[in-house]
Amino acid sequence: MADVSFTVDGKKLTAPAGTLLIDACKSAGIEIPAFCYYPGLSLQAACRMCVVRIEKQPKLATACTTTVAEGMNVTTESPEIAQARKATLQLLLGNHPLDCPVCDAGGECELQDMTFKYGAADSFYTEPKNHREEQQWSPVVYFDRPRCILCYRCVRMCGEGMDIFALGVQNRGSSSVIAPNIPVSESPNGMAALDCEQCGMCIDACPVGALTSGTYRYKTRPWEMNHVATVCTHCGDGCKTTLGVRSVSDGSEIVRGDNRDKSGMNGDFLCNKGRYAFDFANNIERLTSPLVRKDGKLVPVSWEEALGFAGKRLREIRDEKGANAVGVIGSNRTTNEESYLLQKFARTVIGTNNIDHHRTADYVTLATALQGTTTVAGKPRFASQRCVEKSPAILLVGGDPTNEAPLTAWNIRTNVRLNKARVYVANHRDIKLKRQAKAFTPVAEFGYAAFIDSLGEENEFTKAVKSEEKLLVVVGNELRGGELAKLIAALPHAKFALLADYANSRGAADMGVLPDALPGYQPLTGSAIASEYTSPSEPGLDLLGMFDAAANGKLAALYVVGSNPVKRYGIDATALKDTFVIVQDMFLTETAMLADVVLPAANLYEKSGSVTNSYGDVQLVSKAADKAGVRSDFEMIVRLADKFGHEIKTLVPFGKGLRADMGQTRGAQSGEADRHSVWLTANNMEPKLSPFDPFAILDEIQRLVPGYDKLLRLQLLSGNDQHIAPAGSGLVQISGSRKDLVLPAADSLFTSGSLTRYSPMLQDVQRHQADEAATPLASAD
Ligand code: SF4
Ligand code: SF4
Ligand code: SF4
Ligand code: FES
Repeated sequence: MADVSFTVDGKKLTAPAGTLLIDACKSAGIEIPAFCYYPGLSLQAACRMCVVRIEKQPKLATACTTTVAEGMNVTTESPEIAQARKATLQLLLGNHPLDCPVCDAGGECELQDMTFKYGAADSFYTEPKNHREEQQWSPVVYFDRPRCILCYRCVRMCGEGMDIFALGVQNRGSSSVIAPNIPVSESPNGMAALDCEQCGMCIDACPVGALTSGTYRYKTRPWEMNHVATVCTHCGDGCKTTLGVRSVSDGSEIVRGDNRDKSGMNGDFLCNKGRYAFDFANNIERLTSPLVRKDGKLVPVSWEEALGFAGKRLREIRDEKGANAVGVIGSNRTTNEESYLLQKFARTVIGTNNIDHHRTADYVTLATALQGTTTVAGKPRFASQRCVEKSPAILLVGGDPTNEAPLTAWNIRTNVRLNKARVYVANHRDIKLKRQAKAFTPVAEFGYAAFIDSLGEENEFTKAVKSEEKLLVVVGNELRGGELAKLIAALPHAKFALLADYANSRGAADMGVLPDALPGYQPLTGSAIASEYTSPSEPGLDLLGMFDAAANGKLAALYVVGSNPVKRYGIDATALKDTFVIVQDMFLTETAMLADVVLPAANLYEKSGSVTNSYGDVQLVSKAADKAGVRSDFEMIVRLADKFGHEIKTLVPFGKGLRADMGQTRGAQSGEADRHSVWLTANNMEPKLSPFDPFAILDEIQRLVPGYDKLLRLQLLSGNDQHIAPAGSGLVQISGSRKDLVLPAADSLFTSGSLTRYSPMLQDVQRHQADEAATPLASAD
C-alpha cells in the first residue's frame, strides 16, 4: 500500500496506509502502552490503555484500532492522556489483589509497570474486592481470577493462534470471567479444567499474573535467573527458546522456557514440549558416573578407567578382527559438530563405513531428487521454515504437523489467518489442519503412490494445486524412496520440505551419519571429503544390518551415541551377547543396559554447537545448564579416539581453523575448562587451543560439506537461523535402501521419544489428557 505521512509527538513519520497507529509508532521508537493489543491477533479495544489525542477528533482515540492517515497529527503523552490512563489503571485495579510480592508475574507484569509509570495508588472504589480462590486448570496452567484484567489476549491466542478455542468468556458486564472449556459440571474431579494442547501460549500472552505456569511458579524470580537463548531439544521444527537458568548444588538447572523476545523463526510460539519438557535434564535417574561391566554387572568407575578400557578394547577388536567388525550408531539429538565428528571417527579412526542412525525421514532421497534443480525464480527448491509463514500456497502431503511438528502447524495457521494463504491437504487421516484447508483429498492409508499418480490427472484438487505458481510442498514421513522422488518430479515448479522427528534428524543425515554417503550426501569415492579422509570406499552396514551382523557373530564391537536402537527397533537383546558395546547416553536405556561401557552424556541444553531443523535451517545451541559428572558427546568421542591411540590433531583440526577457541565455547563451568586444560597440558598442548571446541570442527564442516559452506559464522553466533541446501554434485542414493530403516518416531504433542519417560511434566500432561478423555464432552469439537 502507498505510504502516508503523519506527525506523532512533533515527529514526521511515514508508514503504509492501513498500518495501525500503535504499530507505526512502535516502528519509530514511540511506545504506546497497551494491554489488550497483541500483534497478529484480532483487535479487541477492551482496555483503553492505548489512548492518544488525534488533532480534530473530539475524544481521545485508541491507537490499537486507529489506522494512520495522511496529515494526521497525534500526541501520545500529555497530562490529559496520563490522567486517562491512570483512570483506566484504577478501574483495572478495582478488583485486583495487590499481591505483587508473591505474584509469579512480579517483575514481568505489564500492569505493574504501568501502575508505576502512571501512579494509581488511590482508588475511587469503596466496595470490598471480589476475592476468588486460585484454580488449577491443568498440570501446567493455573488461573487467578481476581488478577485477570479481561484483556482477552488468552482467548484470542488460544482460538486464533492455536485453533483450539479452549478458553472463553462467561457472563456479561462486570461479572465477565475467563473460563476453560471443561466446566465444573463436566469435569471428572469437580474442578473446571482445560482440554487443550497445554502449549502455555495463553500464559505467555497474559500481561498480568492471572495465568501462571505450573512448572515455573514459586520457583524463582526473573532477575535471579540467567536467560540463555538456544534451540528446543524435541521435534524437528527447531524453535528458538530462551531458558531461564539458576544455579543449584550440582550444576545449573533450567526452570523456565519461553520465547518472549520473539527473535526466532517461531516468533513467540513454543509448544508444550518446548516450553516445559526440559525437566528430563533434572531427572533423578540421570547417569553421572561412567559404568563398566564387571562380573556381569555395570559398576561405577572413574572416567580414566572407563575411557581407557573402552579405547583399548576397541583398538584390540579393530586390530584383531578388522575395521568392519566394528559398528557405530549416531543420534538425532546430538549437534552437527558431534555427528560430523562421529562419522569421521568411524571412517578415519576405526576405518569403517559401518555407521548409521535412526532415520526418521528420507533425506537421502530428498537431496537426490532435488539435486541441481532450481525454481523458476532461480532459488533452491529446498524450503525453509520461514517459507511456511509466507508462501501463498501450501500443499501438505501426509504428516500431521499439529501433533508432530507443531511450529509448522502454527506457521500454516498464521499464514492462512494473516495472509489468506491457500492450503491443500492430502492425507490418510482427518488431520486437524484440514480446518485451514481450501481443499482436502483423502488418501488410502498406504495409498500415497496413487495420490502422486493422480497428480497427472485433471481433477479439481490437482488442477488447483498445479495452477499455484508459488507452491510449497510440505511432506510427511510417510513418503520415502521412490514415492518421494516421484512426488518431487511431479511438481517441478514447487519448493519442498520433508518433516522429520527429533531436534537434529536432518543434521545427522546432512553430516553423513550414513553407511554409504559422506557428509553433504556425497559419494564415498571421488568427492573432496573422500580424498581428504582416505575413508573406505565400500558402503558399510546400515543400522539394522549391524544388528544382523552382531547376531551372526560378525560384529565384534558397537559404539552407540545418544540413541536407543534396542528399544526403538525391537532388537532381541541376545543379538549383542558376543559384541563389545559402548554407549553414551543420559540414562540407562534398554541399549545402555546391554553395554560393557556406559558413558554419562550431556544433553542438547548442556552444550554448544549447531543443529539443523527438518527444513535445513541451521541454528546455534548454547550451553544453558550443567550437570556434574556428565560430558558432551564431542568430548567423549575425542577422548575415546585419544585412548584408541589416534592422533587427535588429525581428527579435530583445532588451532588452525578460522577461529581458535579461547575458552568461550568450553562452557559456563570453570571446572570443565580446568579439566580440559589438565588434559591439554599432559599432552603438551597449548591450553588456549582445544580439541574439545566444537567450532574447531565447524571450520572443517564449512570447508567440506556442500551447503554448509554458505553458512555465515557471525550470523550463527548472533543467534540467527540460516537456511542451507545440500548443493553438492554427484549425490548418491543408498542403493537397495531398506524402507524400514526410516522409522518415524510418531511422537505426539505429549511424547518425545525416550525423553518422555524421563519428563515428569510430559507424563503429568498425558495423565491429565487421559482423565479428560475418560469424560466425553458434550460440546467437544
Ligand atoms: S495452554 Fe494453549 S491450548 Fe491450552 S488454553 Fe492455553 S493457549 Fe489454549
Ligand atoms: S487471563 Fe490474562 S490474558 Fe486472559 S483475559 Fe485475563 S488478563 Fe487477559
Ligand atoms: S514445535 Fe518442536 S521445536 Fe518447537 S517447541 Fe515444540 S517440540 Fe520444540
Ligand atoms: S490496547 Fe488499545 S484498547 Fe487495549
